[in-house]
Amino acid sequence: MTLDERKRMLSALGLVDWQPRVDGALAPTASRVPTPVAAVEAQTTAAPTDVETSAETRPAAAASHSVAEESAPVPALEPEPDETLRPAPTSAPGDEFGPVSSMDWQTLEAWLATRDHRGASRPVFGIGARDADVLIVGEAPGANEDAQGVPFVGRAGKLLDRMLFAIGCSRETNVYITNICKFRPPNNRDPNPDEVAADWPILERQIELMDPKLVVAVGRVAAQTLLDSKASLGKLRGSLHRYPRRELDVLVTYHPAFLLRSPGQKAKAWDDLKQIARRIAAA
Ligand code: URA
Repeated sequence: MTLDERKRMLSALGLVDWQPRVDGALAPTASRVPTPVAAVEAQTTAAPTDVETSAETRPAAAASHSVAEESAPVPALEPEPDETLRPAPTSAPGDEFGPVSSMDWQTLEAWLATRDHRGASRPVFGIGARDADVLIVGEAPGANEDAQGVPFVGRAGKLLDRMLFAIGCSRETNVYITNICKFRPPNNRDPNPDEVAADWPILERQIELMDPKLVVAVGRVAAQTLLDSKASLGKLRGSLHRYPRRELDVLVTYHPAFLLRSPGQKAKAWDDLKQIARRIAAA
């Protein structure tokens, strides 16, 4: 990664801008440090824990990154967790549309529109390049997404776009973005298991049709559902996993809405972005 790319990524995340020192190493440029974030990050050194809630509340790791990290190998795949959360994939017939497992993109989207909206205004199917190597999966639409029928269009979506831009990705060109659930859950609550199960065949078919090289699960609900795991986000985040039953890597990272609430965690999101960039480069 070039220095310019690195700076672009850091700035997209709202992190310290880095300048080369005389000795060739990278050093932060104090005058350009965004103060609130930098203050939090400078003070944070706690190690990750396994406690689910702590994954979203613990302080961030220090926001320093050596050049050596840039070329660090992608970590080995983790063993699959034992516990099962993922709903059994269904091959439910799609009424007059035929079975979900044989639908093309257009039919799948049309079929989704005929499903029970569960109180939402409209389905949010997905957006982006359907032939991309990278699939981003969030949790479920929020109010903005429900209004527009497009995933990740609110504040969190804007941050997601900036993060993707930092590694040369965008929904206009080379990623596809969707959610575990295709309808906004009432009052923005987490989707319940029935809602996840109802929409699961659609995501599974999207994955089949797209055949991506990498799935990026943003947030706990996406991570646990995709990996069929009850492990905490803190445990799942940061390394490559194998998608069950497919030759497909899954990388888990923080949800951008969480990063907006907890900017001190952006340093770790930056690590995840670097890993995504490395995986894309290796594809
Ligand atoms: N959060 C999500 O998980 N998905 C969206 O589409 C928007 C916000």
